[in-house]
Amino acid sequence: MIRRPRRNRQTEVIRNLVQETTLGVNDFIQPLFVIEGQNQRVEVASMPGISRFSIDTLQEEIATCVDLGITAFAPFPSIPEQLKDKYATESYNANGLYTKAICEIKKNFPQVALFTDVAMDPYSSDGHDGIVENGEILNDETLEVLGKMALAQAEAGADVIAPSDMMDGRVAHIRHVLDENGFQKVGIMSYTAKYASAFYGPFRDALSSAPKKGDKKTYQMNPANSREALLEAELDILEGADYLMVKPALAYLDIIKLLREHSQLPIAAYNVSGEYAMVKAAAERGWLDGEKAMLESLMSIKRAGADIILSYFAKDFAKYLKR
Ligand code: PBG
Repeated sequence: MIRRPRRNRQTEVIRNLVQETTLGVNDFIQPLFVIEGQNQRVEVASMPGISRFSIDTLQEEIATCVDLGITAFAPFPSIPEQLKDKYATESYNANGLYTKAICEIKKNFPQVALFTDVAMDPYSSDGHDGIVENGEILNDETLEVLGKMALAQAEAGADVIAPSDMMDGRVAHIRHVLDENGFQKVGIMSYTAKYASAFYGPFRDALSSAPKKGDKKTYQMNPANSREALLEAELDILEGADYLMVKPALAYLDIIKLLREHSQLPIAAYNVSGEYAMVKAAAERGWLDGEKAMLESLMSIKRAGADIILSYFAKDFAKYLKR
């Protein structure tokens, strides 16, 4: 035999030399959940190791992450039911939970990058990402709300606006609103290919944001489609997105690769709540080695072509690197 691939796998040193993909703490954005109140730190039952924090304890959590080397965060708000309405008006309240959290984080940690969420569902009494009328999700009317929300977040100090709603034309509209108001430097990370997925379950528990009626199939994408992801990417690029995102990540590695091959923009992938919960649940039962499964999953996302990974594992990964 002339060709023996095993020669390059003989020792750890050689394996490290020929390793094609590497993961670092700079590849990650840590998602965070914010709740009302003081001194709160409430674990999400379906996401062991992940808690919902009030604004004060959130600062401690971020300090811990920053010490571990994590530099970017994506906060999401859990809004009390009585503040929700049909038009998600709380979402652009300059004194609301989310905008206050953004201000406080930027005050304490000016060096971190904050990717803030634009979508109606955490604030909507219907639990949808758009305005619901007679069971239909209104696109263009929703854009108005998204624009106001993005502006409130930029005013609070967001570095990058990340619309996760999947309405048509939202990137162009948000870009326009930001520019009109002097926020040319605030970026947009578009949830370009966001699929109607069963893997968002734990996240909806954490924020009590599940749709009250129906599903999200008229705006989130059909998991069977990949060409449609290219169409969404084309539009986001034309509309001014600075980053493209694929969500979820693990069941959509082919989509990550496709966007990587068809675009020059940075590609982000969202390793979502259900993907995190699966690994944690199996590890708790001793059915697999949680740390190894985490590392392999994260590596596969990077190998597929993601430059940036949003993952609830960011902190665990950073701790692993420190060891
Ligand atoms: C909706 C939104 C979702 C997530 C982030 N923003 C899912 C949804 O309910 O459609 C999911 C993130 C996760 O599962 O980790 N705007």
